[in-house]
Parts: sequence; C-alpha cells; structure tokens
Amino acid sequence: MNYNIYDKNIAESQKIVLEKYKNPKAYVHTFGCQQNVSDSERIKGMLKAMGYDFTDKITDADFVLFNTCAIREGAELKIFGNIGELKHRKKEHPDMIIALCGCMVQQDRIIEKIKKSYPFVSLCFGTHLTHLLPEMIKNILSNGKKIFRTDGDDGTIPEYVDIKRDCEFKANIPIMNGCNNFCSYCIVPYVRGREKSRMPDDIIAEIKEAVNSGVKEITLLGQNVNSYGKNLAQPVSFAELLRKANEVKGDFIIRFMTSHPKDCTFELIKTIAECEKVSKHIHLPIQSGSNLVLKAMNRGYTREKYLELVNFAKEKIPEIAFTSDIIVGFPTERYEDFLETVDLIKQVEFSQLFTFIFSKRPGTKAAEMEDIIPSSEKSKWMNQLLEVQSEIGYKLNKKLIGRTEKILADGYGKSEEACLTGRTMQNTIVDFKGSPELIGKFVNVKITKATPFATFGELIKN
Ligand code: SAH
Ligand code: SF4
Ligand code: F3S
Repeated sequence: MNYNIYDKNIAESQKIVLEKYKNPKAYVHTFGCQQNVSDSERIKGMLKAMGYDFTDKITDADFVLFNTCAIREGAELKIFGNIGELKHRKKEHPDMIIALCGCMVQQDRIIEKIKKSYPFVSLCFGTHLTHLLPEMIKNILSNGKKIFRTDGDDGTIPEYVDIKRDCEFKANIPIMNGCNNFCSYCIVPYVRGREKSRMPDDIIAEIKEAVNSGVKEITLLGQNVNSYGKNLAQPVSFAELLRKANEVKGDFIIRFMTSHPKDCTFELIKTIAECEKVSKHIHLPIQSGSNLVLKAMNRGYTREKYLELVNFAKEKIPEIAFTSDIIVGFPTERYEDFLETVDLIKQVEFSQLFTFIFSKRPGTKAAEMEDIIPSSEKSKWMNQLLEVQSEIGYKLNKKLIGRTEKILADGYGKSEEACLTGRTMQNTIVDFKGSPELIGKFVNVKITKATPFATFGELIKN
C-alpha cells in the first residue's frame, strides 16, 4: 500500500464527511468468520480516521456497512433479509450511504441481484479493495455515483495503519488471505482469491504492538494457516512463525485457526508442544470420516493420515484438544460413509464439533453433483452425530473436574449460576463467579462441574 496516497485519501474523505454530516456515525455489522471480523476491525480503523463515530443503532447511522459471508445459502438469505430492511431507512435519511462488502458481494450474480432489487445500496466492494474504502466514500459523497467493484486482486495483502479492535485484550491477527485448495463444496477460493501471506516481520510487529497495548490473547488467522509462507520470496513455515510469535515478550496466549490436515506437519505439532504461549488446541477440520467422501470433497488426505496426525499429537502433547468441522449430507455421501464419520469421531474424541448440512454453492464442483439424499434424512444423520458428540464432550469435560486452569476472563458467562467466562489453554469454556473487574485478566479457576458443552469452576485466590 502506498501510505502517502492512503493518508491523502483519508484526509480528503475526512474533509468531505465532516462537511456533509454534523456528527458522522457509522454502523458496521459483520457476518461470517473471524477473517471477516478482522477485516471489519481494519475497516472501522479507517472509518474512525475519516471522522466517523460508531453506533449500535442502524437508525442513527449515516454510513451502514454489512461485511458479508457466502459460505452457505442460509448466510446469504439472512443477509438479503437484513439489506431489505434498510429500504425504509434510506427514504427517511437520503444522505445515508448503504454499503456491502466481503465474500458474498465478490460474486457477480450477487452484484446483479443488488443492482436490480436493492437500488438503495450505493456501494458494493469485494474482498480485495477494503483498503480503498476512504477513496470510495470520498467519490460517492463528491459525485453521488454508485460504486460496484469486485476487482483488485493483485496478489498482495495491504498493511493497515488504522485498526480499531473490538476487544482491548484480544487481537485477531490475519497472517494470510485466500485459499488454493478448492475443496469441491467451498466458495472461499472464488471469493477470497489465491493464497497470499503477510511478511513475518509485519505480523510480529503487529503482535508486539498489540501485546504492548495490553492484549492478552492473539489469534493468528488464515483459511489454511499450515500453508502460511509457502509463496513468500523467502519462504517461512507456519511452525517458524509460531516460534517467532512465542518469543515476543509478555504474558499472553497464542491461538490460531484454521489448520488444514493436508498441510499439518509433525514439525508443527512439535512446535506447539515446545512453545509455552501456544494454546494446546488444534482446530483441524476433518469434514468426513469416509475416504470416498474425502476424495469427492478434494480434501487431499485420508482418514488414516488424519488419525496418524492426531495420534502423534496425543503422544507428544497428552493434554492436547482437537476440535473439528463436519459436513453432513455431501452429495456423494451414503449412510455407510456417515457411519465412518461417527466412528472417527469416537476414535479422536473431539472436544467440540461445528456441524453443517451441505449447502450447494453455485460455481463450485459439488454444486454440479447429483444430491439424492432427502434433507429429512440428512437432518436425522445430523441429530445422530450431535448425540454422539454430546456424550464425548461430556466425558472429556468431566475429566477436567478437580483441575486448576489459568484462564483469561473474557466476558460474561451464559449460565445463571456464574457470571464470568473464559477458555482454558485447550479452548474449553469455563464459567465462574467473579467480579467484572477481572475481565481482561488472567485468573486461576478450579473446575468443579461439567456439561457436554462447557465447564464451571471456582476462582482460586492467588
Ligand atoms: N478453511 C477451513 C474452513 C473454512 S469454512 C478449512 O479448510 O477447514 C468453515 C466450514 O464451513 C468448513 O470447514 C466446512 O465445514 C463448512 N462449509 C464450507 N462450505 C460449505 C458448504 N458448501 N456447505 C456446508 N458447509 C460448508
Ligand atoms: Fe474452503 Fe477448503 Fe479452502 Fe477451507 S481449505 S477455505 S474448506 S477450499
Ligand atoms: Fe464466510 Fe468469507 Fe469467512 S465466505 S466463512 S466470511 S472467508
């Protein structure tokens, strides 16, 4: 990014924004994954630099932005519902800018639909143009012309000077963007472009800055962190990056997601074992336990390779926890395949599963496959899976009773009997009673109770 041009655009758009609105307010809503959350934090940093304050009420906003997700049809339908509700608001406040960005609007079919059915939307930009937001707002306010852009993938990731983090003590730090894997069901490579990595020095500088400003938990983000650095002029592995991050001085935890099993190495597992700040948890999406389905999904590994990795990790790091994503009802999946998934889940004993019913994404290979299993049948499989997982989760959580864990108190718990919550190094949720002043601090909590999805504990005075 050319910082001189960036500064000039920020200054110019700030001037126009402040001329147009008395107290300019922005409302930014994020759909989708942590990658989008992180992009929105960068967007909010720029909006702040341009003179906007933030509001939680859409009705108070002069600039409304939805950062969108395309991962499943349900996500897109929900977003369209939200956009539709803005029609009335635009009539009341004609100077308001309604904008959409992110993965869903990186698709031409969506841009066409917005132009046709949602004429009150004046700005749509895809995933490669986020850093140009100041210039785009400046242009809209000065000439009133709508902007629809999905171009801009130049193979690099812009470095941002302005970031407004949602939480003072937790930081999402993107280390890469895009994906090269083309799993047959997945839209991400089409909407995020090819894989690109940030320079390790820029990442480490962002970690240091965050830690110096009081951050206690860093999450390194990428669609496939295990292939980090492969395309850099001087290649660096994810394991090497983790070691560098672990060397940054300060009391903080390092988490990361997502690890692709195809690129997960023994070297990475050894690194996790040796780095004391790195969370002993790997989110390692298996998607299916059947080799036939894995092949049709183009995942690039077998259940045997997956189990070999898991067993190696369990041997090296006895306290390691695994979580995973599963797709139920992939078009070529039959009940026998599904049972292989159930069997694998029992063998691995995941501490948590994120389960999704297959959703056809136009443009992907799987969207062309014949899908003959009725959705009522898929729902039955899903319920069976959730029942098995619930038993596993309960068994694992019960084993934690009696242990004292160092936890970052990160907010208010959901349970009635406890008021704070946090996660162990293994990413297990622990709710406990404690004063709100503890939020953002490390505390020691003795685990006393378990459910299939969380645990409860008592604060231990230091
Ligand atoms: N990069 C990550 C996944 C990102 S998307 C990885 O490779 O593991 C998060 C999850 O959404 C995926 O793991 C998958 O389980 C689910 N998902 C993606 N596309 C889907 C689709 N078309 N239908 C249902 N679930 C899907
Ligand atoms: Fe999608 Fe596969 Fe890439 Fe993950 S690795 S983002 S599932 S294509
Ligand atoms: Fe959705 Fe894009 Fe993330 S499609 S899951 S927001 S990478």
